[in-house]
Amino acid sequence: MYRAWLEPGAASADIGTVPLGAGAVTVEPLVSAGLATAVAWSADDFELAWGLWGDPEVTRLMGGPFSEEYVRERLAREIETLRSVGIQYWPCFLLATGEHVGCCGLRRYKNAFAFGFHLRPEHWGHGLAGEAARRVLAHAFSTLAASTLFAGHHPRNDPSRRLLGKLGFKFSYEEIYPPTGLLQPWYSLTSEDFESVRPKTC
Ligand SMILES: CC(C)(COP(=O)(O)OP(=O)(O)OC[C@H]1O[C@@H](n2cnc3c(N)ncnc32)[C@H](O)[C@@H]1OP(=O)(O)O)[C@@H](O)C(=O)NCCC(=O)NCCS
Repeated sequence: MYRAWLEPGAASADIGTVPLGAGAVTVEPLVSAGLATAVAWSADDFELAWGLWGDPEVTRLMGGPFSEEYVRERLAREIETLRSVGIQYWPCFLLATGEHVGCCGLRRYKNAFAFGFHLRPEHWGHGLAGEAARRVLAHAFSTLAASTLFAGHHPRNDPSRRLLGKLGFKFSYEEIYPPTGLLQPWYSLTSEDFESVRPKTC
């Protein structure tokens, strides 16, 4: 599925300025060498959302398979959190082809933000989640001035565990994840931890 995106260095377009209370939050295009995440989810994106969260392989360790109704609710929730809080699991597209890769972003978690990534299976194992993650995390610590971010994963999700470790996340505690009903590990990341592991070119 093709989707328009912003070229690196271009001015922000429709992701641009998100009303937040009396002020406004500018969400910068999260553009890097291979990926573009410059466009927010829109209400017209059900086909893209279903291609991702409707795929049982993607959601196998996230509490899936999910129904069409659930995916519609999830899409609506992403749109709402961008409007109200200035965050979402931004959709990611390949810069070269416009192909939808998945999403990576933030959601509200307790009094902080939780971080996560969901990729379509054909894009696993190419380092794309890490590339998107470094952009989102840099955005969270700089533009959004987050102090600590949290992330959790299914106890058997080894790719997620390995990648969170490479991004600097440190194990913090275990907690039941309601969609799976399982005790899952949770990790935290400070901006200092992130800076200490991130490539200086990012
Ligand atoms: C978890 C996920 C985001 C990883 O994305 P990715 O772009 O494939 O990650 P990377 O290519 O950086 O790979 C991360 C690590 O996992 C390994 N890996 C990737 N795919 C793997 C697979 N299918 N099986 C085993 N290991 C795998 C990689 O080798 C790499 O380890 P290494 O750096 O030590 O070699 C992706 O697999 C995904 O979206 N899965 C489905 C949704 C999901 O589970 N999201 C996380 C919810 S907590």
